[in-house]
Amino acid sequence: MITGLSEFDRVLGGGLVEGSLVLIGGDPGIGKSTLMLQALNGLCQMGQKVLYVSGEESVRQIKLRSERLQTLSPRLFVVSEIDLEKILATIPVEKPDVLVIDSIQTMYNPELSSAPGSVSQVRESTLKLMVMAKRSGIPVFLIGHVTKDGAIAGPRVMEHMVDTVLYFEGDSNHVFRILRAVKNRFGSTNEIGVFEMKDRGLSQVTNPSAVFLSERPEKSPGSVVTACMEGTRPILVEIQGLASSSNLGTPRRTVLGLDQNRVALLVAVMEKKLGMQLTGLDIFMNVAGGVKVVEPAVDMAIVTAIASSFLDRAVPDGLVVLGEIGLTGEVRAISRIDVRAAEIKKMGFNHLIVPKSSVSALKGLGDVRVTGVRNLSEAMEVIF
Ligand code: TYD
Ligand code: MG
Repeated sequence: MITGLSEFDRVLGGGLVEGSLVLIGGDPGIGKSTLMLQALNGLCQMGQKVLYVSGEESVRQIKLRSERLQTLSPRLFVVSEIDLEKILATIPVEKPDVLVIDSIQTMYNPELSSAPGSVSQVRESTLKLMVMAKRSGIPVFLIGHVTKDGAIAGPRVMEHMVDTVLYFEGDSNHVFRILRAVKNRFGSTNEIGVFEMKDRGLSQVTNPSAVFLSERPEKSPGSVVTACMEGTRPILVEIQGLASSSNLGTPRRTVLGLDQNRVALLVAVMEKKLGMQLTGLDIFMNVAGGVKVVEPAVDMAIVTAIASSFLDRAVPDGLVVLGEIGLTGEVRAISRIDVRAAEIKKMGFNHLIVPKSSVSALKGLGDVRVTGVRNLSEAMEVIF
């Protein structure tokens, strides 16, 4: 089944599979219910009948929100209920094509003594819904809040029971939201969908590179662009670094959106191989737009951002850096460099620094200049 929300369908693996159990996890308030209502509206428009069970909001609240989101449909049925027995009894009567449980943590099985949200309640509810889905062929979306303390059972306790696990991420202070597949029996994991939260709900971002780079400061030391792979898609992101003198005994290393250990390792390589004295400095790193990037292909960008701030020299306009960095300061080849380069060209950048070994793989880039570098020193020489 197709929801028509293409970012959502792609992350699902091309659509919703009959009898499947899909968990949508995320922090409270991130927009799970909003995303669900919009996707359900798509399903309704395709002629499906949807039953939305909310244990969190009243029917009236959902109606008001649906009016604002323009997702009201005669095929969307809403019930506010937490008793799982009653919900399961409704299904043969209502015969929906799709069922949604918002959220699994509010569901209650009367035969268990524990409170809703406890591990045993969440497990039992998931199990019963799974049996129902497999028997009837009705796909079920389960919404689960990620909880920081262990008191309430988070989505992790049901990850092994469901077919697909999607996480809806993003900093609630930022408008961007990323839907990420972390497990999918019917499609690729690592696939992402990008959305922007607006006053009338989520809108799809079909060209994430343009959005993530839209507020990039020009000619500012500490900012550099790189291309990362999110599933099958290359996305350009801005990596920011700030190295400033510290008045602490142990200088701060604050890293957002990147792997903290990786940054520590690269700082050590920079000290040793570039002779940059970073030990006494506070180092802050950030990926603009609240994106998370963990692949080693961003190493070059991390080093370049820190070096740029340290030297107080801006990276030249139009430059993108790519490459993994080894412990001896060597610049190593990365995966899918051709796909990344194509996106870089498309976004109008004109100079690309890549590992030396990858230069021959890059053809047909027109007026984009490609410079191959063997190690960090060569890279710094070219850039600064
Ligand atoms: P919600 O879908 O209720 O989050 P969840 O189900 O994950 O807990 O979304 C909550 C936030 O989204 C809320 O703080 C306000 C914001 N929001 C908008 O900015 N625009 C909208 O149109 C809607 C419906 C919500
Ligand atoms: Mg909600």
